[in-house]
Amino acid sequence: MKIRAALAALLATGLVALAQAAEPVVIKFSHVVADDTPKGKGAARFKELAEQYTQGAVKVEVYANSTLYKDKEEMEALQLGAVQMIAPSLAKFGPLGVKTFEVFDLPYIFDTAADLHKVTAGPLGKKMLASLEPKGIKGLAFWDNGFKSFSANRPLRAPADFKGLKLRIQSSKVLEAQMRALGALPQVMAFSEVYQALQTGVVDGTENPHSNLYTQKMHEVQKHVTLSDHGYLGYGVITNRKFWEGLDPTLRGQLEKALADATEFANGIAQEENQKAIDAVRASGKTEVYALTADERKALKKALLPVHEEMASRIGKETIEAVYQETGFDPSKF
Ligand code: LMR
Repeated sequence: MKIRAALAALLATGLVALAQAAEPVVIKFSHVVADDTPKGKGAARFKELAEQYTQGAVKVEVYANSTLYKDKEEMEALQLGAVQMIAPSLAKFGPLGVKTFEVFDLPYIFDTAADLHKVTAGPLGKKMLASLEPKGIKGLAFWDNGFKSFSANRPLRAPADFKGLKLRIQSSKVLEAQMRALGALPQVMAFSEVYQALQTGVVDGTENPHSNLYTQKMHEVQKHVTLSDHGYLGYGVITNRKFWEGLDPTLRGQLEKALADATEFANGIAQEENQKAIDAVRASGKTEVYALTADERKALKKALLPVHEEMASRIGKETIEAVYQETGFDPSKF
């Protein structure tokens, strides 16, 4: 009898253990943009591949549009382990105290996406991701969005047009300096609040890649968009370090593969998604989309380049120079 009871107990424990083993590992992936954006689509692809490669041992829950957390809270939630993955814009690493990332916010530091990729795919990018570790963060990949345009309810063609405008920015000292260099008044605000702030006139304008502008319907409350390409907005895909290192190594390898494939996908569609978005903005007829002439572009660039020098002591001169070297950018040419 005793043996039978012991066997039953053993069986019960075994069944519980089995049931536990079968419970999928849940990855909550939180982000602030719409599903229909390069980041939103990248997250959806990662979910699909992660679940497929791990044969269901991992379940990815994607929360778009700030449904779980807004900008700053998202980073804290990741560090606390309340979510396992996020992909904040590179601007959002500065406020975390990792100032080298602010180099990505410098106006006109990248002429093309290919220049940016020289940095993100090279040793500098790797070093930057690794520098997040003391913050309890494991940097996994860089995802593209695109170059930013300015928008407002008045045409923005020359630096003088920006004077006195309240322009929303992400929380970034570099973006603050950028707006001030144009005589504008930078207003830090969470992404999820921008549409309403534009609609009610709390701010006059903003900057963002077209996919963000269009999917948040900002063009419905902004009469003018200038194709300024004055700065780059992309993402760092990151995870909670303790969570990641605690994963079974086989599972982690499968997730790394899923992320590598999702990264290739996301970076492959970003440019096209932004093109489609600006085409849709044009087609809406609600906003005038203006392409700067070569001279206007030069004037804007001239007004903004001093921000590099101004921010050098903050970001680190060696980081800025390392980027110049990687891309061949020569500020003395302007
Ligand atoms: C913003 O706050 O403007 C962007 O970082 C939003 C995003 O994640 O693309």
